[in-house]
Amino acid sequence: MWLPPYSGVLAKDGKCGGTAPKTFTVPLTSLRRTTTDERRNPMKQLLRKTIPRLWVEKFSDGCVALFPSIRKRYAPPTSSHGAVFPLGIANAGKEALLDRIPSETSRAERRFLYHFFRSVWSGRNDVLEVGPFLGGTTRAIAMGMMDHPQRTQASRLHTYDRFKNYRSDESLLDFMAPLFENGTLIESDRDVIRQTTDFETVFHQVHQAQSYHPLIRCVNGPLPDLPEQEQTVPNLFAVANGVTLDAVFIDGCKSWYGTRYFMAHVLPHAQPGTWFLMQDYGQHTCFWLPVFWEVFTDAFTLGPYVDSTYTFQLTRNISPEEVIERFPAQPDEWTEQRFNEIFASLIQKACDRDDDRARVVYHVQWAAAFAYIGMEDRARIILEDLRRASWADGSEKFIAWAITCLTYRPGPTGSINVRLDS
Ligand SMILES: C[S@@+](CC[C@H](N)C(=O)[O-])C[C@H]1O[C@@H](n2cnc3c(N)ncnc32)[C@H](O)[C@@H]1O
Repeated sequence: MWLPPYSGVLAKDGKCGGTAPKTFTVPLTSLRRTTTDERRNPMKQLLRKTIPRLWVEKFSDGCVALFPSIRKRYAPPTSSHGAVFPLGIANAGKEALLDRIPSETSRAERRFLYHFFRSVWSGRNDVLEVGPFLGGTTRAIAMGMMDHPQRTQASRLHTYDRFKNYRSDESLLDFMAPLFENGTLIESDRDVIRQTTDFETVFHQVHQAQSYHPLIRCVNGPLPDLPEQEQTVPNLFAVANGVTLDAVFIDGCKSWYGTRYFMAHVLPHAQPGTWFLMQDYGQHTCFWLPVFWEVFTDAFTLGPYVDSTYTFQLTRNISPEEVIERFPAQPDEWTEQRFNEIFASLIQKACDRDDDRARVVYHVQWAAAFAYIGMEDRARIILEDLRRASWADGSEKFIAWAITCLTYRPGPTGSINVRLDS
């Protein structure tokens, strides 16, 4: 599947392995784009893409090579908010472990998680993950926690999933094929998976022999995706009394209502300084995540991000009552105007931090929000404008694909795809 380029920087071959640390920069410079100007000026359009531009680039590269000091005249101003994040793993054994579990995250994201929990997480209290699936992210987080030099011995990684109804049995088995090949799973496991489409046992088999395993507290605790599921689903997600969280990794908030429920239950265990890392923040389908974080923009600051994983740090306490009051149970309780305001603000922020990927994805999420609440025509206009925008050049395939799976809504027996092509 094609997606807009990640925001981090990896080696030229696209791999982030190797011994030399690769860096990831968080651009927070206030550079506005002159896109309307570009659109009005076909000559500029032409120069942006064609051979004369390549000549100009080659010439300027040569000048910079001869006189390195001129480079800084053309560099954007340095930003005190910027951060440099390593993505390389010097230890080949650890690097291989990060890639051994089939995962729905990118290689860069798992390396990012490892480094984040090794050096950004405080090491003091506990960490919570929702949506580990087979635990590709669980492993990256737990390995980072293990390597944290000041980790408190008592800190734990609480990981929650419903461990079923995620993929159909054959698709689940296909996805797990590498685990059969490397001997983590044996043939008899196949029948159990076929019968139940449950992967909790597999999760334990994958992690139980690893040195980080004692850190993990695995909980089968589903989030309700609809209000009525609060009465019908057993063992609903709940955080144990006395747990204090200084980092929360979210990869299982797959619905608007589930996000509201999750945040109302997790925030009482967080405090100013707690990090929230969201793998789906930059996935076009999960528009509810950027919307939630924009509603509470007064309570979070943006941290580093790579691919579709974005991080935010809590700056003040938020009560469950405030979550319920400011974030409705369903998106159709809001007006078109409310969504316009939220996405205008998100898109402006993406421009301000020079985050082209987010700029494209926020537009698709904006369209997804409208399609979700039944305003398909509005959604089509947003995507049509996006397709024409010169700054979105290179995103055509992504936009065409997104139309076929713009978002999803929870149904009684799984998610229902919301698409614009039918
Ligand atoms: C995209 S996968 C997670 C990928 C994983 N982090 C990895 O490293 O590959 C999403 C996970 O969220 C879980 N999930 C989806 N809806 C859920 C719900 N309502 N409650 C709990 N878990 C849920 C799924 O079972 C699945 O394991």
